[in-house]
Amino acid sequence: MIINRIFLDEVHSTNAFAIDYIAKNTPIEGTVISTYNQTLGRGQIGRIWDSGKDQNLSFSIVLYPSHILAQNQFELNMLISCSLVSTLESLLSQKVYIKWPNDIIVDDKKIAGILIQSILTQNTIRSAVCGIGLNVLQNHFNEKDYSATSLQSLMPDGLFVLDILENKICEEVLNNYYLHKKGALKGLKHRYLQHMYRRGERVTFQILNSQKFFEAEILGIDQVGRLTLHVDNEIKYFQMGELKMLFND
Ligand code: BTN
Repeated sequence: MIINRIFLDEVHSTNAFAIDYIAKNTPIEGTVISTYNQTLGRGQIGRIWDSGKDQNLSFSIVLYPSHILAQNQFELNMLISCSLVSTLESLLSQKVYIKWPNDIIVDDKKIAGILIQSILTQNTIRSAVCGIGLNVLQNHFNEKDYSATSLQSLMPDGLFVLDILENKICEEVLNNYYLHKKGALKGLKHRYLQHMYRRGERVTFQILNSQKFFEAEILGIDQVGRLTLHVDNEIKYFQMGELKMLFND
């Protein structure tokens, strides 16, 4: 597969660059904006994504998923996270998990993050910038909220070449994406649930921007991708950005 790639020596955020680029140039679907030196990476819920220069992957894939209804946009989160899981499982011996909504976890540590920024029309998704940050060679992390890991930390003898790895991930994502567009990608939700971190277990959650904590069993996700929890004999649903799952408890 030939991938249209725009490589930048340095950029504040490949997602921010891609959003701006789409507005001015309408790149073809599947264009990948990438750098090995992202200086102000964006994370979910307004967080910052830190990545050491020349050590990790930071890239954004431009898609125009007009076939996905706005209300089903979580499908894209599932598609990107499951594609990353498959690629990483082909390299590692450990099981790779998805911590809802789309943090990628190995050995209880975060190895990759995904940030999808979409522009919606009334009913569908006009464009989606799917940003992926994968820790590859970095061995030391500035760990505030969670423990982090990288491919090299998990496989000290492995030989990881950044551009080869990036291509492998993009091919997996785009293959799955074009199948999805044709209606031929089956079992996506099942696959997501199979890899969902701590599903079936009791976990402590924090309500974001509060000091409220509670315990609940993770049941899965509903049809629009809300986190489904069993809390005090009740089933409750939570949107992205409402809760934080606490690690290491
Ligand atoms: C998260 O876990 O909070 C999401 C992190 C997403 C980071 C990637 S790196 C490439 C792309 N550009 C950005 O500014 N962010 C995403």
